[in-house]
Amino acid sequence: MYRTHTCGELRAAHIGQNVTLAGWVQTVRKFGSITFIDLRDRYGITQLLFGEELNKELAENPLGREFVLQAKGKVNERTSKNPQLATGDIEILVQSFTILNKAATPPFTIQDDTDGGDDLRMKYRYLDLRRQAVKKNLELRYAVNRAARNYLHENNFMDLETPFLIKSTPEGARDFVVPSRMNPGQFYALPQSPQTFKQLLMVSGYDRYYQIVKCFRDEDLRADRQPEFTQIDCEMSFVEQEDILAMFEGMVKYIFKAVKNIDYTATVERMTWENAMWQFGNDKPDIRFGMKILNLKSAFTVGGKLLATGELINGAGFGVFDNAETVLAISVPGCSEYTRKQTDELTDWVKRPQIGMQGLVYIKYNADGSLKSSVDKFYPEDKLRAIAEAAGAQKGDLLLLLAGREERTRKAMSELRLEMGKRLGLRKEDEFKLLWVLDFPLFEYAEDENRWVARHHPFTSPKPSDINVMIDNSPVIENAEKYLEHPYNHIKANAYDMVLNGNEIGGGSIRIYQRELQEKMFAALGMSPEEALHKFGFLLGAFEYGAPPHGGIAFGFDRLCAILGGSESIRDFIAFPKNNSGRDVMLDAPSTIDDKQLVELSIRLSVDNVGRENA
Ligand code: AMO
Repeated sequence: MYRTHTCGELRAAHIGQNVTLAGWVQTVRKFGSITFIDLRDRYGITQLLFGEELNKELAENPLGREFVLQAKGKVNERTSKNPQLATGDIEILVQSFTILNKAATPPFTIQDDTDGGDDLRMKYRYLDLRRQAVKKNLELRYAVNRAARNYLHENNFMDLETPFLIKSTPEGARDFVVPSRMNPGQFYALPQSPQTFKQLLMVSGYDRYYQIVKCFRDEDLRADRQPEFTQIDCEMSFVEQEDILAMFEGMVKYIFKAVKNIDYTATVERMTWENAMWQFGNDKPDIRFGMKILNLKSAFTVGGKLLATGELINGAGFGVFDNAETVLAISVPGCSEYTRKQTDELTDWVKRPQIGMQGLVYIKYNADGSLKSSVDKFYPEDKLRAIAEAAGAQKGDLLLLLAGREERTRKAMSELRLEMGKRLGLRKEDEFKLLWVLDFPLFEYAEDENRWVARHHPFTSPKPSDINVMIDNSPVIENAEKYLEHPYNHIKANAYDMVLNGNEIGGGSIRIYQRELQEKMFAALGMSPEEALHKFGFLLGAFEYGAPPHGGIAFGFDRLCAILGGSESIRDFIAFPKNNSGRDVMLDAPSTIDDKQLVELSIRLSVDNVGRENA
């Protein structure tokens, strides 16, 4: 038997027992004729004490960091206890030991505060995974996985696997493709999600499906995106939007309770996509704090009251505002005392290329009611006050204003709002706020192709009241400049996203389940009937054999774990992630393959020997 207990198990109650432990050497500390060793395994750390006798043996077989060691001995009460450690009341008085394996000196310290940089830790990920900080994340991941499975099982969902080698039908992100040796010149694609399969399972009558499943997307990477990531993918038959929302807010609340012991009793807030864009500047608002964006150029409503504010901003002779398509403001609570240095720094912040604004205007609504602004020259104090009040500012607030083209300014303001929320400590890691964003547009205009693309995916149904708008109107965009006026631009989808603390953790929709409507949808996206049949004939065919009304959702499993673990990066919650260039640094993948493999696959590279080792 390699061990009788784990390194996290022994307590005062075990004192006097003979035990055998096995694990890794975390530290070796010599004190004269005795040596202390911290032995680590997945469950914790236990202190081993080597007395004078054994020390001689140790001298002959010195132990280094990360050696794999088996130690037999007696559990002793420690003279100086360590309350930081679960096993801190005891130590093992070692009677014999065996070195199970030696270890080279690790390239970084296996500690929470390691000295290893990102790249080094990725290269030696198997060592990085030994660190407590990473282990904690993977444990959380497993807890979320278990909770999701329990909830879904209790609710009659069935875990069914779907294939990974499928047909390439890119829509949205690019596909990863896999050449087929047996079918020269032909390729499989790895699924971006099991979308069409889960719909087929509904047609087959498996009315509640789920899968915790890998998805593959060849897209640009960010902290919350990996080329292969995991979804909690779900589908249900005979449901409407409300059924799905209820079932899955139930799941997320269940996970909160199981993993974080949080009773999320509050109602999950809901917001239309339009309001999200209007008030927060993006479709995944962080509602842990207010600071809503206000439009000071056009009329807008606050609490139902219509404020025609155009005249406040316009015509004051301040060209930046007078000529801008939009002027947006946020009111930052309690910051009217910002110094010149601080406002200058904020101005530099919005001028960074990532934000891309030309400048920032501020109005300080001082605690004594006076106002001070970077544009006092153009706006007398009473006008500044009117602007401040229109923007909902209180005395003591700092108003920040950005002006420019609508889309860019809204995006920049959304970023500035989040930044100010962060600086003011309003985005607390341990506060969780869920939000449903509803009523997304069905289509998005793709300027470069002058056509409509599906905002969610082509299987999402329009709102019932908008179905006729789609059927009765041609998708053709005669005048690209006026696409906003096209009826398709106003069609709403039966789609929903779940947002947690400003992150999209899930998205889904009620699906189209009738062949005619699905064909109309493909046509709306610019697909010819032949192309639609070639790509999705299997689905159109299935819809002819009694497809039930159905809908579903998929959660970004890695994202959910990262947020619950208080991190922005999903990489920390994936055992073997890729870096930002999509590389597995440890495997050194992707890599070239040898000529024999290429020949077998009937592939000739168009640029000979690109990056090939035997060039
Ligand atoms: P969607 O594309 O919105 O929907 O994806 C669902 C959720 O998956 C997460 N996600 C990602 N996580 C990490 N890396 C990525 N590259 C990545 N891309 C997406 C997000 C997102 O909310 N088939 C539909 C779902 C449905 O309609 O049922 C789908 O895949 O958290």
